[in-house]
Amino acid sequence: MPGLTETSAWKTLAGHHERIAQVHLRELFRDHPGRGESGPEAPPAPENLVAEAAGLYFDYSKNRITVETLPLLAAVAEEASMPARREAMFAGERINVSEDRSVLHVALRMPSSRSLIIDGVDVVKEVHAVLKRMSAFSEEVRSGRWLGHTGKAIRNVVNIGIGGSDLGPVMAYEALKGYSMRDLTFRFVSNVDGADFHESTRDLDPAETLFVVCSKTFTTLETMTNAHTAREWCLAGLGGDKDAVARHFVAVSTNAEGVSEFGIDTGNMFGFWDWVGGRYSMDSAIGLSTMLAIGPDRFQDMLDGFHEMDEHFRETPLTRNLPAIHGLLSLWYRNFFGTRTQAVLPYSEYLHRFPAYLQQLTMESNGKSVTLAGEQVSWQTGAVFWGEAGTNGQHSFYQLIHQGTELIPCDFIGFAHALSPLGNHQDLLISNVFAQAEALAFGKTPEELQAEGVAEALVPHKTFVGNRPTNTIMVDRLTPRSLGALVAFYEHSVFTQGAVWGIDSFDQWGVELGKVLARKIIPELESADVPDLGHDTSTSSLIRRYRRAKGLS
Ligand code: F6P
Repeated sequence: MPGLTETSAWKTLAGHHERIAQVHLRELFRDHPGRGESGPEAPPAPENLVAEAAGLYFDYSKNRITVETLPLLAAVAEEASMPARREAMFAGERINVSEDRSVLHVALRMPSSRSLIIDGVDVVKEVHAVLKRMSAFSEEVRSGRWLGHTGKAIRNVVNIGIGGSDLGPVMAYEALKGYSMRDLTFRFVSNVDGADFHESTRDLDPAETLFVVCSKTFTTLETMTNAHTAREWCLAGLGGDKDAVARHFVAVSTNAEGVSEFGIDTGNMFGFWDWVGGRYSMDSAIGLSTMLAIGPDRFQDMLDGFHEMDEHFRETPLTRNLPAIHGLLSLWYRNFFGTRTQAVLPYSEYLHRFPAYLQQLTMESNGKSVTLAGEQVSWQTGAVFWGEAGTNGQHSFYQLIHQGTELIPCDFIGFAHALSPLGNHQDLLISNVFAQAEALAFGKTPEELQAEGVAEALVPHKTFVGNRPTNTIMVDRLTPRSLGALVAFYEHSVFTQGAVWGIDSFDQWGVELGKVLARKIIPELESADVPDLGHDTSTSSLIRRYRRAKGLS
């Protein structure tokens, strides 16, 4: 089988790229003014470069593409068997080859009327059984019926987890805070730095605090350390009676043995499955804190949003398929324009943790350099994703996006309606989404500046070359449902890229080496005796310096 860059579709696309790479977005819009139109005025697909599904309006017209580009990108995806791989995922085949696992986060949001049999088990039925238990538990806590050890109702929920067991829950909580039960306080502890636990709990009363310990493996150093500290903190505050653990700790994990070894009754455990990757788990029981915050019905709305986007992704031809288009455009810049990063810029304060969430989703998934068969790739894979909620970024790093030497494709995410309407804040906010995308695309020419009378010496400084690509995702309102659709949109974009690159987007071996080395170093930092350090000179000196600072020899 030819490598990706040897396929005929790739070569055709490369030829097309050569022809259009230098064409400016000004020319593209001049030659096809309808490319950004929607509604009855719009030219037929694929002439107009906008698409809509699951409540997301996706304007990709400000990309450096012509009407020919997307079909050519889709042909690359077809030749790389991306549609077959998509079907294999939905069918529960073990497409995570290096871990020999199915990849079935899409089953987490299938309606109960569906059924999907994997190894003789109906996974949809299992998913709904857990959802039912989560709902019952959430109702108990939210209604004040679930009492702590001393008989007080729970007022604080502390989620302990890291990576996928933290970033999804904290992002969703922040995003949906407007829908949350405001008299419950939510905190998220992830970092093994004791400061995280300390600052998150210093003002809480243990008698009113519930810890949700989230860990797929229930072995992760940071989470286990924080969970043990939480247990000590809780018992110290409640008179040391070990029975208190049962009223103040619940676990979310796939490892029942680990949970019960820790001392949490497995009756207070909410399970999920090895076919849910950590970074794809916010809609599994890992989302228990989300459900506690917004309630079971709204959690279901979020799942429905996910599912609607799943169905769209599964069934829509690639050239009208939002996540596929997004993924293929990311690949277009990464592989043909040599871009290295992609910015995600949500214009909603509620989405301020969304870029951090996406960093794990995109970079842990597609930060790979061997193919499914274990061969070195000879093409670039995952870009660096980063971002910040608008408009804050405009006053820090946008300068480089507008006038720097790096080409950075950007996603703008905007909402038609504010959740916290205040005066004309929303108009001001959204005007910036539209203005930034317009400025990045069309820039400002020296001639325009001269016509405005700008001093000649300043013209180069004030020139905006433009031709900087952006996507604009417009949503009516940030709701549980639209959040679900938005997350699924990015999940499937990541899938599309990984499938075309021929890599395993669902393993994460790259995080292992550091974990193993840290476990080796811990006793070297703590031993009373001088350790025999067999590291390189840099690492050994750093360890000695740290020991000296601690007063050890
Ligand atoms: O960082 C590696 C990783 O395995 C992530 O993939 C995962 O989300 C995180 O650690 C936490 O893992 P766990 O849920 O097993 O504690």
